[in-house]
Amino acid sequence: MAILPITVLGAPILRQETVPVAAVTDELRDLADQMLETMHAASGIGLAAPQVGRTERLCVVSVDDRTYTLFNPEIVAREGKLRWEEGCLSIPEVFGWVDRAAWVKVRALDRTGAPIEVEGTDLLGVCLQHEIDHLHGKLFIDHLSFLKRRQALAAWEEEKAKYPDLLRILKPGDTDTPRHAQAADGEL
Ligand code: NI
Repeated sequence: MAILPITVLGAPILRQETVPVAAVTDELRDLADQMLETMHAASGIGLAAPQVGRTERLCVVSVDDRTYTLFNPEIVAREGKLRWEEGCLSIPEVFGWVDRAAWVKVRALDRTGAPIEVEGTDLLGVCLQHEIDHLHGKLFIDHLSFLKRRQALAAWEEEKAKYPDLLRILKPGDTDTPRHAQAADGEL
């Protein structure tokens, strides 16, 4: 087990399309476990493979004491609308209100390779949409209006200096304290 470095905004891999997983192997289960450990170390609630420098179509989500390992996740149904203030482990200290579907149904393979469906509203629904976006090279800032996106990028320009190699290195117990009131929901 290991805590992996997290890629931050500017790293090209965050903008790449991922590759569907052909079969859920022991190696991929190990990767999922390391991603979960990394996500917890960063006090996050979701993490996608490109955020740890990998191209597999895989994300992990942990909301309301339920943890999901999702290979090849796909949104197969969505309904309604909501706005949620989001952050991202790959864009630390930057937040923005995003329009999302209020409910989604996701089809994926679980850690045994079996097909599963996960339905989510509120934070779980938002997290699923945010992580699946990551698997297609998309970030929450892409959903912001022109002006809000420009503000977010300006905030990031200052934060970015902390990550000279575009990597965020976490140590065990080195958890983030959410400084932003709303960020109590966690970064995704
Ligand atoms: Ni994210």
